[in-house]
Order: sequence, then C-alpha cells, then structure tokens
Amino acid sequence: MTTVNSEKLSSARFAQATDAFVEVFTASVDFDQRMAQQDIQGSIAHATMLAHCGILTEKERDVIVSGLKQIGEEIVNGEFVWSIKQEDVHMNIEARLTDLIGIAGKKLHTGRSRNDQVATDIRLYLRSEIKHISDQLTRLQTAILDLAEQHADTIMPGFTHLQVAQPITFGHHLMAWFEMLSRDQERLQDCRKRINIMPLGAAALAGTSYPIDRFMTADLLGFNRPSANSLDSVSDRDFAIEFTAVGSLIMMHLSRFSEELILWSSAQFDFIEMPDAFCTGSSIMPQKKNPDVPELVRGKSGRVTGHLMSLLMLMKSQPLAYNKDNQEDKEPLFDTADTLINCLRAYADMVPHISAKKANMYNSAKRGFATATDLADYLVRKGMAFRDAHEIVGLAVRLGLESKRDLSEIPLSELQQFSALITADVFDFLTLEGSVASRKHIGGTAPDTVRNAIQTARQNMSVM
Ligand code: ARG
Repeated sequence: MTTVNSEKLSSARFAQATDAFVEVFTASVDFDQRMAQQDIQGSIAHATMLAHCGILTEKERDVIVSGLKQIGEEIVNGEFVWSIKQEDVHMNIEARLTDLIGIAGKKLHTGRSRNDQVATDIRLYLRSEIKHISDQLTRLQTAILDLAEQHADTIMPGFTHLQVAQPITFGHHLMAWFEMLSRDQERLQDCRKRINIMPLGAAALAGTSYPIDRFMTADLLGFNRPSANSLDSVSDRDFAIEFTAVGSLIMMHLSRFSEELILWSSAQFDFIEMPDAFCTGSSIMPQKKNPDVPELVRGKSGRVTGHLMSLLMLMKSQPLAYNKDNQEDKEPLFDTADTLINCLRAYADMVPHISAKKANMYNSAKRGFATATDLADYLVRKGMAFRDAHEIVGLAVRLGLESKRDLSEIPLSELQQFSALITADVFDFLTLEGSVASRKHIGGTAPDTVRNAIQTARQNMSVM
C-alpha cells in the first residue's frame, strides 16, 4: 500500500514520507534562519515586481507584503515557530505566509525558485555584514592613526629576523599596520561590487516564462544590476569565497598585529603596557597578566582561513547549476562574518588604551647597534665604497660589543682608528634621533614624514 505524504515539499511526486533522520540531516533551518530578514526583503521585492508586471493582482501583492511584514515582526519578537519539517528558512516563511493569508501566499513563489532565492538572500546578507565589518575596520584604522600621531617621535628598534635592525619610530610601525588595513578596506569594497548583483529571475536555473522585470527587482533591492546568466546566478558562490578570502587576509593581518603585541608586552621585550581591561590573570600564578585578546584573535585567524578552504572545496567539483552541496556554504560564511566583526571590534576598543614604554623602546634600539647602517652610509657619503664601509663598521661594532658601548658612545678618537674619513659630524648620524630624522623621503620613518603620512591617511579616509 502506498501512503501519500501530504506534508512533503513537492509532495505529490512522492509515494513515501522522508526518512526521519534524512529530514533532520537535510534541513538547514537551524542555521539559515539567520537570513530571515533578507528572505522577507527579497520576497517583498519579488511580489512587488510580479504585481507591477501583471502576474499578481495589486490586492494579492498587498496581502503578501503585509503578511511578510507581520512574519518579520514575529521573527524579531521571537514568536515565530521554526519547523524542521519545512526544511529551510525559505519554506518556513512561505508556509507561515500561506497560514496567514491563504491562497495568495501560494502565489508568491511564481516565477521564482529557492535556487535564485537563496543566492539572493546570501548576497543581501553579505552586503549588510560588509557594512558592519567595514565600520569596525574604520574604527580600528582611526584608533591606529591616533596612536601613531602620539608616537610620531617615539623611537624604537625596527626588526628584521626579529633582530634589531635599524631605528624607527613607533608611529611609523603603527602606520605599517594602518596600510595593511587600508588595503583590507579596499578589498572589502571591491568584493562588494561582485556581491551586489541580483540573481532573482534565474529561477531554478533557466529563467522563467513569466514576463518579469528583473531590473525593477534589482532596483527595489538596491542591487547594481540583474545577473547576466541564469545558470551562473544559481550555481556559483565565488562571491562568497572571495568574501572569505578577504576575511582571511584581514585575520592574517590581525594575527601578525597580535603576535607583536604579545611579544612586546612580555617581560623580555617590555615595550608596551596592555590595558588591564583586555587582559586576564592566571588561576595559579598571581603575577600573570595575559594578553588574551590578541592571543584569541591570533587563534581565530585559523578558523577563517579554514572556512576559505571549506568553501573552495565545496565548490570545486560541482557541475552546473545548483546542487544541494551549496547549502553547506552558510555556516562558514556566518562564522567568518561574526569572527571578523568581533575581532575588529575588540581591536578597535583595545588599541586606544595601549601605552608605549618609550624608555624601554629607546634603550633597546640603543643596545642593538641600530645605527650601524647609518655609519656605513656616512662613510659612503664621504667617498668610500659601500662594501668597504660595511667591513669597517663591522669592526667598530665589534669594538662596541667588547667594550659594551653603543656606536654613539665611542669617542671620536677611537672611531677615527677605523677610518680617517670620520670627523666630529658623525655623531649627527650615530644617534637614534639623527638616524630616523635622515629617512625623510616618502614612506620613510622620519617623524615629520610620519606626521605627513598620518595626515594623508586621514584625508583619504574622509573621502572614502
Ligand atoms: N536550503 C537550500 C540552500 O541553502 C535552499 C535551496 C534549495 N534548493 C533546492 N532545489 N533544493 O541551498
């Protein structure tokens, strides 16, 4: 005997009810309900367009729109009852609409499929998350600029191989972070362009036979234009992968930023004091103050890169057009957006309260012979070949190491034993201040150059 499964989607075709476990296994409503407001927004635009094109009556449109608005409120108020039986966010909302308004509710899906519907919802969702991410990124950029301004003259060692290399200013170092985040901001806005294209009208894969107006729907939803190919519209998630790639780069930058803050706040570096409110103690060691926020952000960078890999693998073997595989795109995407917003927010809140231990930074630069290159450059300006100068400065550094003196602390008479070209003016270059001040070309670490860079950055941000 065959039983008719009356609750099942496209039920008439099926002779058997869905296996109970399969029903749970294939459902996405537990997570995709997060796109409910976008789904409603998309449905309102679709119904409005259908009425405009004479496919629905104005009366049908009106009851659909007011029913959808009511459902939106039910969801916000926590009154909406989500059901696994209805599989996903789209079916749940449509079923509720039909409960509320009857036959008109069943007409909403005319000229549409869940395939173009879900692609539209994701795009609307990402568009709004990008706004939140970008806002937090801007807050962090501003915090970095403010801190850099305070420290345009603060001298610290610059490192290569994590060994003291040349003196720089803390402001200059901070501006390096600013530059990375500016490119992230650009990438975010660039990927938004490809997100802001409308799939609706592609229907299941081939388009629809109804006389729809896709430009109107695109306009109503604030999309730049309707997508150009119906198969592509419902199948590719490259825009989501791109978003996750942009997110991975942001997290990679925050992770490097974190690594430096963690090192610098250690007793071994002791360059900065992290704000208490962003650190925690240890349950066993009373002296500990752990930089938890940067550590957690460094750790979280891995999950976003992981999501990028998941989405690439999800996509790579799918034939055109839509496949159920794509339902797996939601959780990585939602988690990417959440992680980005939370990490950027924590950083934007924390950065203004980081304080620099200027004396420690200064002394560390001094101990590391950071001005050795300056001495070599000085000899080159006096006519020596760079390789010879390099050799001579090596000898001077060795003398400094043996006698525990910085180059600037070795008297002129002793320096002159290395080269007769050395005269009293050498000390203008051997001091840390002289060294940073001399790097005054665009992109250099001289305090005035750093101040100019900050000013340019503020102008660029204000026109964005
Ligand atoms: N829940 C589905 C998803 O996230 C919606 C689209 C389903 N379409 C389909 N033909 N089964 O991808």
